Amino acid sequence: MKKLMIINGPNLNLLGTRETEIYGSLSFTEFLEEIKNKYKEVSIDYFQSNIEGELIDKLQEVGFTYDGIILNAAAYTHTSVGLGDAVKAIDTPVIEVHISNTFSREEFRHQSYISPNAKGIIIGFGLQSYELALESFL
Ligand code: DQA
Repeated sequence: MKKLMIINGPNLNLLGTRETEIYGSLSFTEFLEEIKNKYKEVSIDYFQSNIEGELIDKLQEVGFTYDGIILNAAAYTHTSVGLGDAVKAIDTPVIEVHISNTFSREEFRHQSYISPNAKGIIIGFGLQSYELALESFL
């Protein structure tokens, strides 16, 4: 059975209530239940943190044994050299995802420290971005 890990960065714990016109009204817990039911043939683990170092620790922890990582580093995408380096340092392929189309938003969201080290990037499909990334690992 393939082992996948979804890692969410800062403020994504508020999905479902946060800026719903951009991010939708489904909580991540509800969405996770849906995809776990739909993709029973894979093991899907989930980690969320608002703390940059904890996200780096998690990437290092799972990045040599898991088959794939789906990473939405949220605001740290645009600021964190450390997270970009962590993605580069591990063996497990990482797919960068974003719920919103970051390129149709403010200029500072056009920069990503994750992208150059990611296997691929899926941006702007709402929560479906995670599902498309998951499909690519199957
Ligand atoms: C986001 C886009 C980021 O720019 C933003 O800081 C987020 C969420 C997204 O999934 O659309 O928190 O990563």
